[in-house]
Amino acid sequence: MAKSNFNFTPTIFTLLLILSISTPLNSQEFSTKLSKSKLGLKKEKLSHLHFYFHDIVSGKNPTAVQVAEASITNKSQTGFGSVVMIDDPLTVSPDVGSKIVGRAQGIYASASIHDLGLLMAMNLVFVEGKYNGSALSVLGRNAAMDSVREMPIVGGSGLFRFARGYAQAKTHAFDYKTGDAVVEYDVYVFHY
Ligand SMILES: *[C@@H]1O[C@H](CO)[C@@H](O)[C@H](O)[C@H]1NC(C)=O
Ligand SMILES: *[C@@H]1O[C@H](CO)[C@@H](O)[C@H](O)[C@H]1NC(C)=O
Repeated sequence: MAKSNFNFTPTIFTLLLILSISTPLNSQEFSTKLSKSKLGLKKEKLSHLHFYFHDIVSGKNPTAVQVAEASITNKSQTGFGSVVMIDDPLTVSPDVGSKIVGRAQGIYASASIHDLGLLMAMNLVFVEGKYNGSALSVLGRNAAMDSVREMPIVGGSGLFRFARGYAQAKTHAFDYKTGDAVVEYDVYVFHY
């Protein structure tokens, strides 16, 4: 049998041509414009949340545990390189036995060589009232020796979808013997 001269073999050029035609169509498919009402988003609200954060490092049931350190951490005045994992209770009053409204779950790490500055990366997970099951994410610097520290709220989930705002933290009590701390939090957050 004679070989046809008109056999179509796709060359690199024709493949590229097909790709260049189809790519704009594909890129439109993964992104569409939505109206806020379609996602059930009504008017944006501004909420203020107030609670006490209990950082318990001592005793049999600590809620803050060091998980890593550097070889120089022990020699550093700021504990540079120390990484602590927390699951700290958040309560309505400074008393650790008072009603729990949520937990602060995440990490704080000593990220500053010259003065005490913690990198906070944590979720405020609420368990009370309408915010039960909703969470806010905090990512920021905590100069723990300052009287008031401000940290950004970078997002949230549940009722806090699209959240943004800031948290202000003030040390309410610090036990120099044990290292346990009670910190008052005021959170100001925009959400829907
Ligand atoms: C730092 O000090 C603690 C307690 O004194 C000790 O358990 C730990 O092994 C030391 N770490 C280093 C890296 O030297
Ligand atoms: C919060 O939600 C969880 C899971 O839905 C539920 O088990 C719990 O009872 C709720 N807590 C409160 C205080 O409503």
